[in-house]
Amino acid sequence: MSRRDINLIPELDDYTQAHSTRTDDLLAELADETRASLPSNAQMQISAIQSKFLTMLARSLKVTRAVEIGTFTGMSSLSIARGMAEGGRLVCFDISEEFTSVARKYWERAGVADRIELRIGDAKEILGDFDPAPELDLCFIDADKTGYLTYWAELSKRMRPGGIIVVDNVFQGGRIIDEAEQGANVVAMREFNRVVADDERFDVVMLPISDGLTLAQRR
Ligand SMILES: C[S@@+](CC[C@H](N)C(=O)[O-])C[C@H]1O[C@@H](n2cnc3c(N)ncnc32)[C@H](O)[C@@H]1O
Repeated sequence: MSRRDINLIPELDDYTQAHSTRTDDLLAELADETRASLPSNAQMQISAIQSKFLTMLARSLKVTRAVEIGTFTGMSSLSIARGMAEGGRLVCFDISEEFTSVARKYWERAGVADRIELRIGDAKEILGDFDPAPELDLCFIDADKTGYLTYWAELSKRMRPGGIIVVDNVFQGGRIIDEAEQGANVVAMREFNRVVADDERFDVVMLPISDGLTLAQRR
């Protein structure tokens, strides 16, 4: 699967993967199919280490209610769904029928399709209609970067105490610390990172995994 930890020299990245649980054949096949069928988008997929991390996190939190924003071909949703507790439910939001048709196929093959509901559309517009009950255990945000603040506003108020929001790409390839970088995604992510760090409702840890992964736990 993918090597995408921007913080590690390749040898340490290899070592990290070699000393983590082996990636099973289905996830490896999904990574291969994504690379082959969507070569110009395949880099959007989460890394193998992130996949294992999400499964372990979902299992540790005994997740029964989860939300994902940004599903693509299904690697992160599959990783979360596999770690969920009995009766768990994951609601996924994505704007693309094309990308998520691959995800649907792998959810079926993994035997987790009955735990996942996919909602197609711009998540900034349709997330507000989502069940307002504040009882989510786990959320994963990995879609359009300029939408992250909207996703934070909608999801943060729905988290149960102890529930965790995981956010990908908070480093923006390292551009986040270069003030000369003023692209829309980088600027949006700087503001997002500031808002999250200042949110008194959450304990926040920004981890140097892959392209930067923030974990925010509801107090
Ligand atoms: C980085 S990829 C997600 C990767 C995925 N988590 C995985 O593990 O493979 C971003 C996804 O967000 C979706 N997306 C982009 N803008 C969106 C929006 N406004 N609403 C919902 N989904 C959006 C894209 O279609 C794409 O599938």
